[in-house]
Order: sequence, then C-alpha cells, then structure tokens
Amino acid sequence: MMQPNGTEPTGQLTIRTLAMPADTNPAGDIFGGWVMSQMDIAGAIAAVERAHGRVVTVAVEAMTFIAPVKVGDILCVYTTVERVGTTSITIALEAWARRNRLDDRVKVTDARFVYVALGEDGSKRAIPSA
Ligand SMILES: CC(C)(COP(=O)(O)OP(=O)(O)OC[C@H]1O[C@@H](n2cnc3c(N)ncnc32)[C@H](O)[C@@H]1OP(=O)(O)O)[C@@H](O)C(=O)NCCC(=O)NCCS
Repeated sequence: MMQPNGTEPTGQLTIRTLAMPADTNPAGDIFGGWVMSQMDIAGAIAAVERAHGRVVTVAVEAMTFIAPVKVGDILCVYTTVERVGTTSITIALEAWARRNRLDDRVKVTDARFVYVALGEDGSKRAIPSA
C-alpha cells in the first residue's frame, strides 16, 4: 500500500539494506547518521560509476529527514546523477523504507551529495565525458 507522502521513488535503486537494532538512537528509532552513511555509500556508488573511478565526498548540499526509520525496515536508496561538472558530480538521493512485510513504502529522506573524482595519486581529476 502506498503511503500518503509517497509517489514513486525517483532514480535508480542503488542499495538496499536492513535497519538493525544496533543502529538505533536512545528513542529506539534508527540513528540519522546511519541513514546518512547509507546515502553516502549509495551516492558514492553512483558517482564512481559515472566518474569511472575513485571519488570522495566533498559536500552535502541538502539533507531532509522526512519520516523516521524503524528497526526491521528495509532501507532503499535511489540515486540520480543530477549534474556533472569539471571534477565534481552532484547526486540526488532519496531513501525509502519498506515495512510491514514490504506492504508499505515511505519516503524517509532526500538529499543532494557532491563528489569529486580523484586520480590514483589522490589529486582531483577531470570527469570523462561519458
Ligand atoms: C575534494 C577535494 C580533493 C577538492 O579539492 P579542492 O582543491 O578543494 O577542489 P576545488 O575547490 O577545485 O573543487 C573541486 C570541485 O568540487 C566542487 N566543490 C568544492 N567544494 C564544494 C562544496 N562545498 N560544495 C559543492 N561543490 C564543491 C567545486 O565546485 C569543483 O567542482 P568542478 O570541478 O566540477 O567545477 C578536497 O577538498 C578534499 O580532499 N576534501 C576532503 C574530502 C574527504 O576527505 N571526504 C570524506 C570526508 S569523511
């Protein structure tokens, strides 16, 4: 069943992972830093694919926590390459939680992360045209 806040996710499903009890805050919900780290991993996967090599996170330009993530939710992170600069790539991200035996899907966060392509020596490098 679709939740009131939901349309369809935008972007490519890049990672899915299970929210575990070890990832909770003192209130028993999932810690926001854990969700952010999953989003950073998904964004890095998308950026590495586009950059054809190593990237590093340079900025989190926008991050909105829309709804809590619960233990047992399956966190699904969707990515879209929003902008390709000279050495940087901006990735738009959405995280959705699947819960109640996967019947419900709730958008829990959206964000925009920026990555810079690095060469083998660790200095920034130009992103290939495709
Ligand atoms: C990423 C890094 C190599 C960039 O080096 P730099 O010499 O500062 O690079 P520049 O200022 O020329 O910026 C490089 C690109 O990043 C973009 N950028 C830099 N800072 C940015 C910011 N705060 N927000 C958005 N974009 C940014 C620039 O616009 C530029 O994009 P373009 O080449 O597409 O035009 C360097 O800042 C660094 O090593 N940062 C630490 C990264 C890291 O360790 N991340 C993990 C943290 S745990």
